[in-house]
Amino acid sequence: MKTIIEKVDKAQLNSEEGIRVIERAGEILRKGGLAAFPTETVYGLGADGLNEEAAEKIYAAKGRPSDNPLIIHITDMESLKKIAKNIPETAVRIAEKYWPGPLTMIFEKTDAVPYGTTGGLDTVAVRMPCDETAAAVIRAGGGFIAAPSANTSGRPSPTEAQHVKEDLEGRIDMIVDSGPVDIGVESTILDMTTVPPMILRPGAVTKEMLEELVGEICVDRAIIAPDSKKRPKAPGMKYRHYAPRAELSIVEGEAETVISVINEMAAQKASEGFKVGIISTDETLERYKAGIVKSIGTRMDEATIANHLYGILREFDDERADCIFSEAFPTEGIGSAIMNRLLKAAGYRVIRV
Ligand code: TXA
Ligand code: MG
Repeated sequence: MKTIIEKVDKAQLNSEEGIRVIERAGEILRKGGLAAFPTETVYGLGADGLNEEAAEKIYAAKGRPSDNPLIIHITDMESLKKIAKNIPETAVRIAEKYWPGPLTMIFEKTDAVPYGTTGGLDTVAVRMPCDETAAAVIRAGGGFIAAPSANTSGRPSPTEAQHVKEDLEGRIDMIVDSGPVDIGVESTILDMTTVPPMILRPGAVTKEMLEELVGEICVDRAIIAPDSKKRPKAPGMKYRHYAPRAELSIVEGEAETVISVINEMAAQKASEGFKVGIISTDETLERYKAGIVKSIGTRMDEATIANHLYGILREFDDERADCIFSEAFPTEGIGSAIMNRLLKAAGYRVIRV
């Protein structure tokens, strides 16, 4: 299959060229094909979410286990009623504040949603992204677009079109390229079928933000305690995920100790002939002596860290790193999403110093 790759400027979606590109993606989606597009979180791999065969193509292209349900992307509240039922009043309040945006909510599904999209579940995950390109593609594609992150299953999620190309070129019909994404980690997933609602995956809309609006929110234990026997409620969270090819270890502790331990371990590994990568920050970049040292962002603004997380893991893959040592990050605010993804990428390998 030849993959069409087209650039579109988010600020020029209504230009003749913008309309042409979006219409081309829309036509592919309406006919049951696969088109990848940017959202504010990560790039998504879209298919018509109400067409079982189309949604099934996503699993084949990504090599994704078929019990792992997809998120349906919409652009207005009317559409929500077509795919979800028993929508609690709390969800409406949350939607008023955080939709469109980096938040997915789970509801009971209606018969309009095929089981091929929900991995056999009676619930459906719904998201209304705020990225303009995403909204235009969803509308052009019929309004109900199932889209997982547009990576090969198990690899870090794509934060620019080039990442999608690396993973999926030749396996999908089209990639719409609007440049790098704004946030860089996937949406918060909030299960609205329980009281209180439960966070199944942390993201840019944090527990604190939701609690301020609607009161108590709980968090799926499986996110916090990886070795617990409990299965995570979001099926996708059980797979080793977001992972670079190298062995990633997170070093946690007092800042100066972390720097010296990483320097020791990196020097040791390098002397054994391994190619070593180090994930530092703008504040510590100059302090590391061995291996390939990259800054993930600044601790003064953690959004920069979220934004570079997946990109940096892919860069170390490109440079064929055998092992990577990373600093750890605080888990408040967006930090909870950063550490959740980093821990999964590391297979929960944490060195406490
Ligand atoms: O930011 C995002 O959410 C991106 C962009 C493209 O929208 N999408 C994304 O999709 O991250 P994906 O498929 O990579 O992750 C969706 C997660 C999986 O862990 C899946 O198991 C969970 O959502 N999920 C989907 N439907 C669910 C449901 N009905 N119940 C519980 N978990 C569900
Ligand atoms: Mg994913």
